[in-house]
Amino acid sequence: MPYITEENLTDIAVDRWSNIPDPRLRKVMTAMVKHVHAFVREIEPTPDEWYTAIDFLTRTGQLCTGKRQEFILMSDVLGVSMLVDALNHRLDTGATPTTVEGPFHVPNAPEIADGGNMAKGAPGIPCFVSGKVRDLDGRPVAGALLDLWQTDGEGLYEVQRDVMDAKRDVNEAWMRGIYHTQADGSYMIRTVAPIGYTIPMDGTIGELMKRTKISHMRPAHIHFCIEAAGYHRVVTHLFQRGDQYIETDVVYGVKEPLITDFKKMPPGKAPTGEMLKEPFYLVHYDFVLQKQAKAQAA
Ligand SMILES: [Fe+2]
Repeated sequence: MPYITEENLTDIAVDRWSNIPDPRLRKVMTAMVKHVHAFVREIEPTPDEWYTAIDFLTRTGQLCTGKRQEFILMSDVLGVSMLVDALNHRLDTGATPTTVEGPFHVPNAPEIADGGNMAKGAPGIPCFVSGKVRDLDGRPVAGALLDLWQTDGEGLYEVQRDVMDAKRDVNEAWMRGIYHTQADGSYMIRTVAPIGYTIPMDGTIGELMKRTKISHMRPAHIHFCIEAAGYHRVVTHLFQRGDQYIETDVVYGVKEPLITDFKKMPPGKAPTGEMLKEPFYLVHYDFVLQKQAKAQAA
């Protein structure tokens, strides 16, 4: 082996890291060495800059707990989370596209009847979301499960209400619920309109974002996870058309087919039949699921 020079160091390191029996790990590690070396060659960091980078990553890791994941936030704001999602969900163009799940999903939401309210006691403008779940041929998907979660009208998720105030009973779910489609594939959800919110800015990622001119806001959205037997599971969002942050979502989540109108209605009869004394929103959206490929015969 030749001794090390600036010129040959990358090739020697890549060659050494190719000595891994597992082919996938070999591919990952040789690509990582190659790209990190290329990055360092492009930047030419000073020793102080290199230490700053190590310190930043160290502090990022130290912020992570069971309830906070600063590395996922880093992946989100760099667009990597949405890239990994896109590479793993190459659905037909007619199918509802996927997005990242994000950090606020809480499993085992309560089951709510069609038309039931998942925002009991929550501040915000009433909002009725309805539509159908269909397949790519337009046929209704009955019994599909829709697991929803979103902010209340003050921009807070359940997890944030737990730690920030006593507005809610911590034993009850807040702004989340599980609905099922009817025989004709339809669903009806009563909630309150979500609002845009900031990513956490009190950690290392916030520290970095403050040194940029990049928006740290997410546009108003409702998260959905939709499941039905025989179909690809879809984790996605619906976004409010016209939101001021719709084109600059800090986590790159907005895909055009997921933008929908939130139609403001005057006080009066809601689609569930109840009379409202306040204005409310109507949202109509049809989700399209793609069938899973049949397993190949052995
Ligand atoms: Fe969200």
